[in-house]
Amino acid sequence: MSESKPNIIVAANRDELNVVAAQFIARVAKDSIAARSRCIIALSGGSTPKLLYALLAQPEWSARFDWNRIHLFWSDERCVPIDHPDSNFAMVNKELLSKVPIPKENVHRYRTELGDASAVAADYEKTLREVFDVSADEVPRFDLTLLGLGENGHTASLFPHCPALRETERLVVADYVEEVKSWRLTFTARLINASRNIVFLISGASKAEVVRAVLNGPRKPEELPAQLINSSGDGEVTWIIDRAAAVLIQNTATAP
Ligand code: 6PG
Repeated sequence: MSESKPNIIVAANRDELNVVAAQFIARVAKDSIAARSRCIIALSGGSTPKLLYALLAQPEWSARFDWNRIHLFWSDERCVPIDHPDSNFAMVNKELLSKVPIPKENVHRYRTELGDASAVAADYEKTLREVFDVSADEVPRFDLTLLGLGENGHTASLFPHCPALRETERLVVADYVEEVKSWRLTFTARLINASRNIVFLISGASKAEVVRAVLNGPRKPEELPAQLINSSGDGEVTWIIDRAAAVLIQNTATAP
């Protein structure tokens, strides 16, 4: 797996972070639709991207997207009902999906109502393959996979020391994560790393140390799973982070 260095864009503050990310996504969507008539994006959960989704839902941003040609997935999900406060689908639905004209058939959520977490993961992987129209031995290539970064170095729901970190075949798996005392559903590194664009969206001083450890510290992916994320082909990895989260890393580019 190539260990090419990620692109790093440092935004002055949280507002600029969201504008830079929205511009990035709009560009990828335009280019993907021009090249392949559609754009398939995997969204991140957690709190950081909420303001980004709210920005994309605003008319002046929403108008920049051809929603009929955009498909949305989630890079991870909590194995809870879709009306549960922890649901990543519920958060995105509230902030974005309920406010933009994306066709329902283009929104691909985890069917957590199936109950058993492993069955939900297998069902999601089946849906992935159908939407991408790829065979069992191909890895679908997302046009953009959006990720966050936990203070413990997890990304998506790839948590330290979890079996998901060592998965080399499947694309979507379920792990019981002791740290959060819940079943989590997640893309594997194999799937994430096939993306044309991988974007980490990170904000705040509380993430400064983990950003330093992941980017500049020793490689120890069992403890810092975000270190598993590198493009496996000709894709690009971009860290869009604000100044507070970037304070401990060297040689950073600043947002244009
Ligand atoms: C989730 C996310 C997770 C998140 C990180 C950072 O389902 O919670 O996918 O990987 O991105 O935990 O979360 P915050 O943005 O809330 O700091």
